[in-house]
Amino acid sequence: MEFKIDREDLISTKSDVALVGLFESEESGSHFINASDGHLNNNLTSLINEGEISGRFSKITLLHTLGLLASKRVMFVGLGKRAEYGITQVKNVIGEAARAINKINCRTVSIDVISFTGNLLEEETVTGLITESFISGLYVYDRFKTEKVACNIEQIAFHCEKSNSRDVARGESIGSALNVVRDMANDPPNFLTPTKMSEIAVDIAESIPNMECDIFSRDKLTSLGMGAFLGVAQGSVESPKLIIMNYAGDPGNEKNKISLIGKGITFDSGGLDLKSAAGMRSMKGDMAGGATVIGALKAIGELGLKLNVLGIVAATENMPGGGAQRPGDVVVAMSGKTIEIDNTDAEGRLVLADALTYAVSQGSDQIVDVATLTGAVRIALGDKCVGAFGNDTDFTSLVIDSGMKVGERIWEMPTYSDYKSQLKSDVADIKNTGGSGAGAITGALFIGEFAGDCSWVHLDIAAVSNANSTKGYTVKGATGSGMNTLISLCEQLASITR
Ligand code: BES
Ligand code: ZN
Ligand code: ZN
Repeated sequence: MEFKIDREDLISTKSDVALVGLFESEESGSHFINASDGHLNNNLTSLINEGEISGRFSKITLLHTLGLLASKRVMFVGLGKRAEYGITQVKNVIGEAARAINKINCRTVSIDVISFTGNLLEEETVTGLITESFISGLYVYDRFKTEKVACNIEQIAFHCEKSNSRDVARGESIGSALNVVRDMANDPPNFLTPTKMSEIAVDIAESIPNMECDIFSRDKLTSLGMGAFLGVAQGSVESPKLIIMNYAGDPGNEKNKISLIGKGITFDSGGLDLKSAAGMRSMKGDMAGGATVIGALKAIGELGLKLNVLGIVAATENMPGGGAQRPGDVVVAMSGKTIEIDNTDAEGRLVLADALTYAVSQGSDQIVDVATLTGAVRIALGDKCVGAFGNDTDFTSLVIDSGMKVGERIWEMPTYSDYKSQLKSDVADIKNTGGSGAGAITGALFIGEFAGDCSWVHLDIAAVSNANSTKGYTVKGATGSGMNTLISLCEQLASITR
C-alpha cells in the first residue's frame, strides 16, 4: 500500500473510489456534495433527503458514479456529530472504511482530506491519522496461514492543500509500529520466545541510525544480581533476555532522557501456582507491554524525536519446570531488597523490579513501565481504559495527557502508601502479593518500591491489550494499546526540553 499527496482537484481525478467524510445533519453543506451533485444530476441531494446518504457515525454509503465522475465510486463515511468529533472518531471511521474498500477490490483510493477536518483536527493531523488507520484497520495476522490474506488496495492519494509527505510518513511509522506490536502479541508462544523477541528488537535497532540494542542473557543477569528476574526464569528451559534498546536522539543532553520498561512474559503459565486452563489460554499475550515498548522505540527512532530513550524489556517465560521457584522462596533483587515469593503467578512485578533497578542505575530520572500486570485492573476499570499509577502527580498527569492527545484513555488510580502494609512479609523485606482487595494497586506499589528517586508511572494494560472483535481501527486479537501514549509522551518531553 503506497500513500501519496495529490494537489489536483479530487473531483477531476480518476480512482477506483473517492472517500468523503460527512458530518451528521450537515450532509447538504458538504463541499464535495455541492461540487459534484450537478455532475450526478442532483441525485446526491435526493439521496440525502431520503436518508440514504447520512453522516451518522460510521455509516458507510457506496455509490457507483457510472462515468459521471472521474472516480468510479464514491464512498461516504459518517463522522457523527461535529461536536463529538475527535482523534478516536477519525481513527475508527477510517478503520471501517479501509476494510470496506478492501472488500470491494478497489486498487486506488482518493481521499477528500478537507472533509475529515474539524474540531482542532487540521489537514496535517488528519492526513497522519488516516494513514495510520488504513494500516492499523487493515491489519491481519496470517503468519501461520498457508493462504495469506491479500491486500487489494495499492495506492491511496490524499487530495489536500496543506499536508505533506512528512505527515504521511509519520502515520506510516506509527501504523506499522502498531502492527509490529500486534504481531508479537499475536505470535504463538512457541514462536515468540524471549530469544525471538530479542532478535526482533536487534533488527529494529539496526534499521535506525542512532539506536543500539544490547541483550543480556542468564550469565550477565546473574552478574548484575537480578535475582528477582532470574527467579521467574528458572522454571523455563528458554533463556531469559533483558532487551535494552538505547536511542540517542539528543546525544549531548544526558538530562533529556526517559526509560520505557515493558513486561515481556512470553508465556505465563502461572508457574507452580499454575493457572487454570481458562486463565492460561490468553497468556501468550503477557509480553504485550514489552512489545509496546519495542514498537514505541521503532516509531520514536523513525520519527527522529529529539530526546534519549532507554527501552528495557524483561523477557522470559513463567513456567513450572523442575527448577521452578516455589511459593515461600526468598529471592534477592538487584536493588538488594529481599522478596518473599508468595505467589509465583505474580511474576510480572518481579521481572519489572530488576528492570527498574537497572534503569535507575543508568541515570534515568523518568520511568514509565507498561505491563499486563493484573486481572484486578479489569475488575476496577473494565476494558475501556488503562490504569495509571505513579509517585509524581505532575509526571502522571503528563502521561495521562499524552494518552488523551492520541485517543488512548488512561485513568489515574491511587497509590496511597498505607496500602503498602498489604505487602509486608514475615521473612523478607517485602512479598510479591498483597492479598485480597486493591490487587492492581498493591501490584503497582510493589513495582514502585524499585523506582528509587525517579518520577515513575506504571500503566496496567492487562484489560485492554486484547480485543474480542474487530471494530473501527481495532482488529480482533492484540490491540497494541499503550504504544501511541508512549510515543506521544516522548514527543511532549522532546518539545518541553527543546
Ligand atoms: N499476567 C497476569 C495478569 C493478567 C491476567 C493479564 C489476565 C491479562 C489477563 C499476571 O501475571 C497474574 O497472573 N497476576 C495475578 C496476580 C495475583 C497472583 C496477585 C492475577 O492478576 O491474578
Ligand atoms: Zn502471572
Ligand atoms: Zn503475567
